[in-house]
Amino acid sequence: MRRAASALLLAIGLAGCPAPSELADAGTDAHLHDHDHGEPVSPDAGTPDVPAVDGAYAWRLPTGFPRPVVPADNPMSAVKVELGRHLFYDPRLSDNGTQSCASCHPQARAFAEERATSVGSTGQSHPRNAMGLANVAYNTTLTWANPLLLTLEQQTLVPMFGRGPVELGLAGREPQLFARLRAEARYAALFPRAFPGEADAFTVANVARAVASFERTLLSGGSAYDRQVYGGDTTALSEAARRGAELFNSERLECFHCHNGFNFTDSTRYEGQGSLEARFHNTALYNLGGTGAYPAPNTGLHAISGRAEDMGRFRAPSLRNVALTAPYMHDGSVATLADAVDHYAAGGRTVASGPNAGVGRESPLRSGFITGFAITADERASLIAFLESLSDPGFVRDPALADPWPSPCEHCDD
Ligand code: HEC
Ligand code: HEC
Repeated sequence: MRRAASALLLAIGLAGCPAPSELADAGTDAHLHDHDHGEPVSPDAGTPDVPAVDGAYAWRLPTGFPRPVVPADNPMSAVKVELGRHLFYDPRLSDNGTQSCASCHPQARAFAEERATSVGSTGQSHPRNAMGLANVAYNTTLTWANPLLLTLEQQTLVPMFGRGPVELGLAGREPQLFARLRAEARYAALFPRAFPGEADAFTVANVARAVASFERTLLSGGSAYDRQVYGGDTTALSEAARRGAELFNSERLECFHCHNGFNFTDSTRYEGQGSLEARFHNTALYNLGGTGAYPAPNTGLHAISGRAEDMGRFRAPSLRNVALTAPYMHDGSVATLADAVDHYAAGGRTVASGPNAGVGRESPLRSGFITGFAITADERASLIAFLESLSDPGFVRDPALADPWPSPCEHCDD
């Protein structure tokens, strides 16, 4: 348990620790190599025919979705997923009992949070926005701009044990955590069943394995867009949304270069895929002092690589359920989809005054795909209709992904 925790804490510590040699080739969109040009969104692009059964586990994969990559030491199982779901929604996972993963990742908002930036269980502020977790199993790298955080197992330990900032506040509190978990009858049954053959299944590594397994079931592919493109329902998309999809995939708007494939991001990996590259882009949200700088500590890939050209580079998020996940961007600084479109149309955001003042359009570090474009009011509405067509109402209401714990009042005496 201690070993797993410290190995994973290393991944946490890396946030402030440059490792340029490992990053030499990470994220190069500013160079516009051929391989940086994404393909337009298309139903079967790069989707191999992998059977949807992993050992005894039957995936509920949406039509057209490939199988996610699963670490060899953490095969999927239904009981592990169920354990992970209990842990994800359990405030006992925070030291003071005030927060669970779901506090910052609520299902109703596609597991994204309403605040611009997070606040942890002890009141510490997180500099970034909690992104949605739909299809998180497919992300090449995890969090907004960390090329070293590659598995959901590793990532789970960040909110649990991280101190910069404190989220769930469990650093040094493992004995107390496991005392709480062991005392719960559901865990006494679920841990040994999820990890059979282990003398004591209550370990940090197993908590991370179970939570990660649950997260791999957060699959969203039931939007109007999916019904039309994968389900053959030619009436699912409105005329406006269809026009919006064309605009999205046009060389005028360029969106598809970074938001492509079945998950609308160029940061996608899956079982049976060929080579893989971590990609990060500067979308010119900031241009402090005309140097292209972003406000600290949110300097993106640069915070880890230390390379000047990585300033402001972030992972392109999936746009699935994007209408449900406002506010937007790594710091929650864009309030609405209309504002997001205006930012791209302007070729970068202009911050008129204050410490973050600067004209994004003039940033020397801006991606070559962020060029700005003219867009009519009608086209703008169509593009937004398309983005809204990526919402999956079944996903945000799916009982299999919901809080499994009885509501507090089932325990009330009166
Ligand atoms: C205090 C709020 C908070 C809590 C509690 C929290 N998270 Fe997060 N989560 C965030 C923020 C903020 C980010 C973005 C972090 C970054 O980019 O550095 C994030 C990112 C993530 C990501 C990366 C998603 C992606 O697309 O790369 C995953 C996965 C995740 N959280 C899972 C969890 C799990 C599992 C738990 C519980 C063990 C949890 N979170 C608890 C705020 C929170
Ligand atoms: C050069 C790559 C690139 C291009 C081109 C691009 N995006 Fe993005 N997009 C990103 C990145 C990177 C982010 C996150 C930026 C950040 O947080 O600093 C993002 C964020 C977003 C978000 C916010 C999502 C969220 O969950 O916060 C929306 C909406 C969006 N893009 C829509 C579009 C649309 C529409 C277009 C075309 C007009 C487009 N993007 C073009 C890379 C790109």
